[in-house]
Amino acid sequence: MLKTRPIAIALILAAIGLSPLAEAQTPPASAWPEPNADAMPAGALKEVVLYGRKLFNETYAVIGPDVPNRAMRYSGNNLSCKNCHLGGGTEKFALPLIGVFGMFPADMARENEVRTLEDRIQGCMERSMNGRQIPVSGKEMKAMVAYIQFLSIGVPTGRAPEGRSTPPLPVMARAADPKRGAQVYLDYCEECHMKDGRGMRNGVAGDAKGYTYPPLWGPDSFNDGAGMHRVIASASFIRANMPFGTHYDKPQVPVEDAWDVAAYINSQDRPKMANLDRDYPIRARKPVDAPFAPHPDNFPLSQHKYGPFQPILDARRAGATAPAATAAPAAAAAPAAGR
Ligand code: HEC
Ligand code: HEC
Repeated sequence: MLKTRPIAIALILAAIGLSPLAEAQTPPASAWPEPNADAMPAGALKEVVLYGRKLFNETYAVIGPDVPNRAMRYSGNNLSCKNCHLGGGTEKFALPLIGVFGMFPADMARENEVRTLEDRIQGCMERSMNGRQIPVSGKEMKAMVAYIQFLSIGVPTGRAPEGRSTPPLPVMARAADPKRGAQVYLDYCEECHMKDGRGMRNGVAGDAKGYTYPPLWGPDSFNDGAGMHRVIASASFIRANMPFGTHYDKPQVPVEDAWDVAAYINSQDRPKMANLDRDYPIRARKPVDAPFAPHPDNFPLSQHKYGPFQPILDARRAGATAPAATAAPAAAAAPAAGR
């Protein structure tokens, strides 16, 4: 008797269209998850997830170029994954990893091939971290994947959560202007990232302690093959997330300034990646703002670097390979980042 009562109530609720379990456990579709690995039940999996989180938030201290064990020096700079994937990959429109576990394997334009989550992590290792691949079957890769899976619990598989990547940004009718961007940099960015763009370390060079304010260019920054080196991707990240503490729904940097400062940062010296011409073997799948040749059209490379992007987007849409004679300004927003 005691056992049948709750079941009877559940059946009645189900009959009138309410499911008490579903009501209690499923957050509204718009809720952004707030995963906390510290709250996981103790055990071996938690240990691995916490190691993944450490690798993600303090990359420089475990696999950075200055760690004592040379064999562990996979990363070529002292950034951490979280310097770009803010909040350790948990913040909406700040390149989150929430839900990303269920988005792979995916058909990637850069290689024109279906790639795994591990492959995607290697992409950021070789470009954003200016380093080399980590062993796929090693402890570090397992931990990073476990952490990203943990961040993705409860998010439907195969459906990009709203808040992935960075928000789309309206394109400008003119090219982004690095000269104007230099002034924007002084106004909004220099106090943290410093005049020379080298950022501010937690300690001193060589101590593997990373940065309070990460470098935006120079030898210890991401290389020229990184996603952040593309003006559309960079401007949209900056507009939604910088100065640090900015929330995407209350941006502080005006749209034009975000474009110009992104152009300024991406005009500075940084490490170079070899063989970039081999990226995007199907040129029609190449993001319009990839700042390196070849492109499937006759727009000058400077226009792929700085815009204006609308004519290129229009030409791509029309399947044209040459600059369109009549470029009608149609869509007002550029996708934040092409995959
Ligand atoms: C300099 C900035 C930067 C750093 C540092 C960085 N990434 Fe990324 N990462 C990006 C950008 C930009 C993208 C592309 C996002 C997009 O396509 O919208 C990306 C994409 C990803 C994705 C795919 C996300 C998706 O939505 O499909 C994964 C996974 C990832 N990074 C993992 C890592 C890991 C792990 C590290 C540290 C080892 C790292 N990243 C370091 C900038 C960075
Ligand atoms: C109040 C200090 C502060 C200001 C001002 C600031 N940033 Fe940042 N920025 C940060 C911090 C801190 C991070 C790393 C976030 C983390 O690790 O959690 C960061 C990360 C970044 C990154 C990604 C990491 C990298 O090394 O490339 C870019 C790009 C960036 N900032 C650009 C800008 C631009 C452009 C401006 C000016 C519009 C700006 N920031 C203003 C503190 C600041």
